[in-house]
Amino acid sequence: MTPTHHDLLIRGGTVIDGTRAPRFDADIAIQGGRISAIGNLAGHSADTVIEAKGRIVAPGFIDSHTHDDQAVLSQAAMPFKVSQGVTTVVAGNCGISAAPLRPDMELPMPLSLIDTPAEGRFTTFRAYLDALRTQPSSVNVAAMVGHSTLRAVTMGSLDREATPEEIAAMQALVEEAMEAGAIGLSTGTFYPPAVKATTEEIIEVCRPLSARQALYVTHMRDEADQVMQALDETFRIGRELDVPVVVSHHKVQSPQNFGKSQVTLPHIREAMKKQRICLDCYPYTAGSTMIRADRGMLDCRVLIADSQPHPECAGRDLDDIAREWGVDRVEASRRLQPGSAIYFMMDENDVQRILAFEDTMIGSDGIPAGEKPHPRLWGTFPRVLGHYSRDVGLFPLETAVWKMTGLTARNFGLHQRGTLQPGHHADIVVFDAQTIRDAASYEDPKKPAEGIDAVIVNGAVTWQHGAHTGARGGQVITRQPISQDGQNA
Ligand code: ZN
Ligand code: CU
Repeated sequence: MTPTHHDLLIRGGTVIDGTRAPRFDADIAIQGGRISAIGNLAGHSADTVIEAKGRIVAPGFIDSHTHDDQAVLSQAAMPFKVSQGVTTVVAGNCGISAAPLRPDMELPMPLSLIDTPAEGRFTTFRAYLDALRTQPSSVNVAAMVGHSTLRAVTMGSLDREATPEEIAAMQALVEEAMEAGAIGLSTGTFYPPAVKATTEEIIEVCRPLSARQALYVTHMRDEADQVMQALDETFRIGRELDVPVVVSHHKVQSPQNFGKSQVTLPHIREAMKKQRICLDCYPYTAGSTMIRADRGMLDCRVLIADSQPHPECAGRDLDDIAREWGVDRVEASRRLQPGSAIYFMMDENDVQRILAFEDTMIGSDGIPAGEKPHPRLWGTFPRVLGHYSRDVGLFPLETAVWKMTGLTARNFGLHQRGTLQPGHHADIVVFDAQTIRDAASYEDPKKPAEGIDAVIVNGAVTWQHGAHTGARGGQVITRQPISQDGQNA
């Protein structure tokens, strides 16, 4: 007989289970951090009951693209993610990871974007994951190792390709990270520390991924004029290693490329017939990255998010700063470096087309630093659910939820997460489909979203009544590859 008393009971809600199946009314019981029952549980009782009448009960959202590597330790409550309904973050994107590093090394941009203190650096990937296990954050973490980080820790100078000895050294570090539980490796060949890495260097460094079917994830060399070539390079790396690839924050940037998603998406679809490919996307027409002074990045409106030499410029337009200083935008950008900025470089139609593409996962790409971050840090998931699904009607709510739960868990091999089923980990969000909305704006980017009732991480109520409960129930998640028939191997 199934027990009728539980740790937690979510009563009377409408379940969207993360598989894209139509919603249904059901109660959900939780015991020992797992979902113990789903159905009509009238007559059951629990230590804690959450009334969810008129609310959607869904799997906790998985942020497929984050730079939370350090934040999960230094800002362990993770309010910017928990408040949106996020229960798991995938860290280590764009070539940048918190490990392995040496305490004595200088971190070139963009490695310093993730706010890595010189004290308490992790020289091995295992040490990083162990720190997360001993000081859990409020969310689960699945972590990747970054290729730019490996280059920085291995190579004396980054403005050239790696030698065979350096490649071997990086391979050993990848092996260590995989052994410790990294779910994949990311590259950021768009960024200075990895611009000079050749396709061949990347393939060789990534060899240890193959045996484990770990992911190759990439902020590609080019997301503008050469985006098609960059896609082909990515696919080639995936094929030669025979591993799944993730195209990070897919976009087509700069006005001359507006509309090109009509070419990139069919190209991706075609390649998917031959190999495993997925992509993520954030729901905004502005990107955010390290302050760049190259003209290609400056043909759009630029908002300064954070500047080390000029913190007073955070939140201001580059044009206004340049005018005030009597210099052009390139010179102003140079003076503001290092720091991060927001670039309004995409077209709304492309963003919608990419979001609506069947295999696109939602990922925030938020940078958890500074006073004026891109609003995606606090608003991504409610923006997809409220603005794009409900208000714009881009796809049904069941599809929106799937793009941030079941699809993501399947692509990243996150076992027993991302869908609501008895036996699965109890990562759950309760929200109001009528009122959910992102409140964070470019002007006021740190505003928590509206319409999130409760967030549960591994059975622990972590956010309720608009406030953090202080729970730190997050776990380190390792990868369990999915076999062809869709089952966890
Ligand atoms: Zn990136
Ligand atoms: Cu990123």
